[in-house]
This record gives sequence, structure tokens and C-alpha cells, in this order.
Amino acid sequence: MELDRYGLWEGINEVIVTTVSSEGKPNAAPIGVIRRDGKLMVRVFNGSQTYVNVRDTGLLAANMVYDPVLFVRSALSDVGEDVFEFIKTDNGEDFPVIADCSAWMLFEAEHNSGDRVLVAELCPVTGTIRHQEIRPVNRAFNAVIEAVVLATRYKVFKNENYLLQINSYRNTIYKCGGSTEKKAYDLIFSLL
Ligand SMILES: Cc1cc2nc3c(=O)[nH]c(=O)nc-3n(C[C@H](O)[C@H](O)[C@H](O)COP(=O)(O)O)c2cc1C
Repeated sequence: MELDRYGLWEGINEVIVTTVSSEGKPNAAPIGVIRRDGKLMVRVFNGSQTYVNVRDTGLLAANMVYDPVLFVRSALSDVGEDVFEFIKTDNGEDFPVIADCSAWMLFEAEHNSGDRVLVAELCPVTGTIRHQEIRPVNRAFNAVIEAVVLATRYKVFKNENYLLQINSYRNTIYKCGGSTEKKAYDLIFSLL
């Protein structure tokens, strides 16, 4: 499958990864899909639901999404079932993808789950491109992503320096953002 067409370029692609637990509960979380030397990989840290689900099922979907609020909600809370839509896998099982995504791609994840981190190479199974928007670079969107990465670290390590760094993005987000970026940024503080 053509990775470029799906927007998965060389480097680290910040996507929303959807997975399902062995009991059938869907989950969403931002994860970096790494493309280097023709290979696709993820590194998922132990402690997340995504780690458990990929270890247990060996499947994940990468959802290309430009909604900063969804990045924040899925990083810092459990999103409601309403964000998902279900596709059928080859063996007829339902698998969650993000209903409002630009594209999704389902992968088999061949993983070595260590105690600290699960490293998986991703093999494409199927995918769909829904819309190809034209999106100029927006500094506020990028700043929200930086801020929410720091927020996930703050949650684990409780180091106050992360809060200072998150606050340092406020001016850029309020200057360059639309209402969605501002809402996403404010949501970080309510979910921390
Ligand atoms: C933009 C972004 C990229 C992230 N990339 C990763 C990653 O590659 N691996 C990882 O383990 N966590 C990553 N995280 C942190 C997880 O999203 C976070 O731990 C989340 O709470 C996991 O949710 P879950 O328990 O529902 O799986 C990332 C967070 C953000 C905001």
C-alpha cells in the first residue's frame, strides 16, 4: 500500500492510533508512527491501554486526524464511543477507526513487548482515504501538539518544569490559533 498517499512520510507521523481490547473495548491515543528506511514502526510505552491492546491483539489502526481537541482528549482521557466507527477485518471482526478522520490504515503489528516499551513493525492490511484537505502549516496546531506531549509526560513524571513549558505555548496558540486550537489548549489544563 502506498504510504505517501496516506500521509505517512519519512520521520515521525503523529496520528491517533485506535486499538481494541481482548474484551472488545475500543481505545484511541496519539502515537508517533515512525517511517525510516522503508519500514514503519511504533514504540509504545508500558502503562498505556494501547500497549496492552497491541500486545494482546497484534492489530492497530493509524488515523490521520487534524482535530487538536481529539488529540488532547485521546491523550489525557478516555474518549467516548461516539468518536469511533467500526470496520470489518478480514476475519469478520469489528475494528474501531476514528469516524471523523482524513484517512485510516489498519496494520498488523509484529511486536516484541519488553517490560518498558513495546516495539512493533507495522504491516499494512487495508485502508481508506476519506478526504484530502489542503492544510497550510498552523503554528498553533503544532504548539497544541507540543503542549499535549508535555502534558502526557507531566502526568507520568509530575515534574513542574513540564507545566512551565506547556504555559510557554500559550501566546503562540492564542495568536495563531482558531477557536479549536484555543479550546484544545484550555482542555489540557482541565484534564491534567
Ligand atoms: C502527539 C503525541 C504523540 C505520542 N506518541 C507516543 C508514542 O509514540 N508512544 C507512546 O507510548 N506514547 C505516545 N504518546 C503518549 C500517549 O498518547 C499517552 O500515554 C496516552 O495517554 C495513552 O493512552 P491510552 O492509555 O489510551 O493508550 C504520545 C502523545 C502525544 C500527544
